[in-house]
Amino acid sequence: MIDRESKIYIPGHKGLVGSAIVRKFLSEGFSNLILYDSKSFDLRDQKKVEELFETESPEYVIIAAAKVGGILANNLFRAEFIYDNLMIEANLIHNAFKHKVKKLIFLGSSCIYPKITSQPIKEEQLLSGYLEKTNEPYAVAKIAGIKLCENYFRQYDSNFYSVMPTNLYGPNDNFDLKSSHVLPALIRKIHEAKENNADEIEVWGTGKPRREFLYVDDLADAIFYLFENIDARDIYSKNISHLNIGTGQDLSVSELAELIKKTVGYAGNIRYDVTKPDGTPRKLLDVSRIHQLGWKHKTSLEEGIKETYEWFVNNYKL
Ligand SMILES: NC(=O)c1ccc[n+]([C@@H]2O[C@H](COP(=O)([O-])OP(=O)(O)OC[C@H]3O[C@@H](n4cnc5c(N)ncnc54)[C@H](OP(=O)(O)O)[C@@H]3O)[C@@H](O)[C@H]2O)c1
Repeated sequence: MIDRESKIYIPGHKGLVGSAIVRKFLSEGFSNLILYDSKSFDLRDQKKVEELFETESPEYVIIAAAKVGGILANNLFRAEFIYDNLMIEANLIHNAFKHKVKKLIFLGSSCIYPKITSQPIKEEQLLSGYLEKTNEPYAVAKIAGIKLCENYFRQYDSNFYSVMPTNLYGPNDNFDLKSSHVLPALIRKIHEAKENNADEIEVWGTGKPRREFLYVDDLADAIFYLFENIDARDIYSKNISHLNIGTGQDLSVSELAELIKKTVGYAGNIRYDVTKPDGTPRKLLDVSRIHQLGWKHKTSLEEGIKETYEWFVNNYKL
């Protein structure tokens, strides 16, 4: 058991993932959390990050800060996606090493895997093929983060490791259509279509790509489980560089849209704009390793979408 008084720094605590991690750690009795938003600390600033570690001396770090976005943002802001993410993770991981942090967990995402690869994707398939072009800058930065953790462990025995969650959704999600991921974008579009009595909505791509979705509170539960029970050695000794976190189940974008239509209560049509890119055809994680380590997700997609839609209706300012 990790001491409940421990100082835990959670960069990115206001985001989708960070806020779920904070909820989970508070509910488990950890109240000594170090929380700064991007306005008070720009994590791209090397000097400021160093000062933060000197003043606060965190014992544990869970990195949920990153520049994150959907296919449109990733493709448009390619330079920012690689630069911001490289700077954020390098500053945090290097300072965690310098200040002898006891454990660090870095969050990547499933876009690190090759565009064309066998499914479900095992951890070993990292760097076995070409990346999807639209999110290549983001994926390269995330792979660098994994390799930073792995190599601080290999050279200095730092207890740092990475987890790769599948697509996430839940309360505090990004519903801005210019930068959101597919699930929150569909929730917003379908909700607005219902409110405006629109006959149909338009969705990018063919609707055929298959995706896996994990409710963000389940991810926070997995991170808490790993934080308490798993060290870097347990991962790297299996000759893998990180751990997948997902449900092990996927569905097509069109099936997802139908599920959201049902939850929202919208009877209109969905028109697929096939001139727009689909992204990777299928992305399903092999989650057998985390299952073997003793963790499994709890929330079904139906339940998770219901919770997320309720949050959207009650909290999101359109
Ligand atoms: N969303 C998904 O589907 C998904 C899937 C798999 C993995 N992940 C991973 O989970 C992590 C978090 O993603 P998320 O969805 O929670 O993103 P998010 O909601 O956009 O939150 C990202 C957080 O990072 C902070 N941040 C960004 N740039 C910063 C900077 N320069 N300095 C300080 N803080 C900065 C933001 O702080 P402010 O709010 O204060 O601006 C924000 O709280 C990422 O590593 C991502 O790869 C996400």
